[in-house]
Amino acid sequence: MLTPVLDQFSKWFLHHQSFAAYIEPIMQVFKPGWRADLFRAKVVDVQALSGQFLSISLKPSKKWPIHIAGQHISLTVEANGRLLTRVFTLACSPAQFKATGLLRLLVKTDQQGHFTSQLQNALAVQPWCNISLPSGDFVFKSWHKPSTFIAGGSGITPMLAMLDQQLSNTEHQIKLIYFAKAGEHQCTNELKMLTQQYNHFSYVMLTRDRSPYLTTHINTDDNPDIYCCGPAGFMQEVADFTRLLNLTYYQESFALSMPKLTDDNHFSVIINKDTHVVTSNEVLLNQFEAKKLPVQRGCGIGICHQCQCIKKSGVVRNLKTNQLSDTGEQLIQLCVSQAVSDLELQL
Ligand code: FES
Repeated sequence: MLTPVLDQFSKWFLHHQSFAAYIEPIMQVFKPGWRADLFRAKVVDVQALSGQFLSISLKPSKKWPIHIAGQHISLTVEANGRLLTRVFTLACSPAQFKATGLLRLLVKTDQQGHFTSQLQNALAVQPWCNISLPSGDFVFKSWHKPSTFIAGGSGITPMLAMLDQQLSNTEHQIKLIYFAKAGEHQCTNELKMLTQQYNHFSYVMLTRDRSPYLTTHINTDDNPDIYCCGPAGFMQEVADFTRLLNLTYYQESFALSMPKLTDDNHFSVIINKDTHVVTSNEVLLNQFEAKKLPVQRGCGIGICHQCQCIKKSGVVRNLKTNQLSDTGEQLIQLCVSQAVSDLELQL
């Protein structure tokens, strides 16, 4: 009863999303790494694997709810004084988590990438990081028919979790077609053990240079459901193929499904007393980054609140909820906000 009142008070007078967010610095004195709206997770182990992959083991706080195999979380770490957030699929099943108390992430690092290039060093010096609730609906639904999993690169992560969770729940054939660069296939021992344990599971490991036409490996004789996770072009190729053959198709996509922004209205935005022009066919965060304004990007999909700022006046549409704001002062998330009137913001 008291919490909603305190939260409303914090929004009106303290410019914080919740009272918990306001008292965050005090809480951190007693509980390092504590953050409002996120869960603490202890960094238990970080191992470098082949192909610039990291295997990260995290022990989340007791309040973290169990996930469903195939779901993802956002991971927030502090690097050079800034909070960085990205979304990753869990590479462990709920049963594995229950047995060990640990969550596993398999992350492909990229030296040019803003987040993953700093991840190993950041986790080496901080005992705590933060994770979100599990979310996502890329979960297994085909207990009563055959299915084929198609993974590209780090797209193997939800497949590992789903295989561990679901092979004992179905008698129907599950095949895995796993593409990666030569020498970069992950968890091959785990896959081998699953074939020994379950007769109805088989897998094939391929590389795109030797097998450029990925759909030729999909056997459609038994009308399987298709699950795909990988780079966007990779998933598009599989999606087009399944549409042609009328196969049931599921894919993992971290991107926020934004409505197509076709309005081309222009509005002026006063930011810290300077005036800028923005269009309504692009979210505000992208436009402010292009203008090199001092904005923060985290997840980019409305989860982490790092892009949050105070709207002093004007109306924005939240593209996640499709709701219009009121005209007065409130907190907005720039990565999911579209201008629908002139605005005044405080960054
Ligand atoms: S960047 Fe995470 S909510 Fe906007």
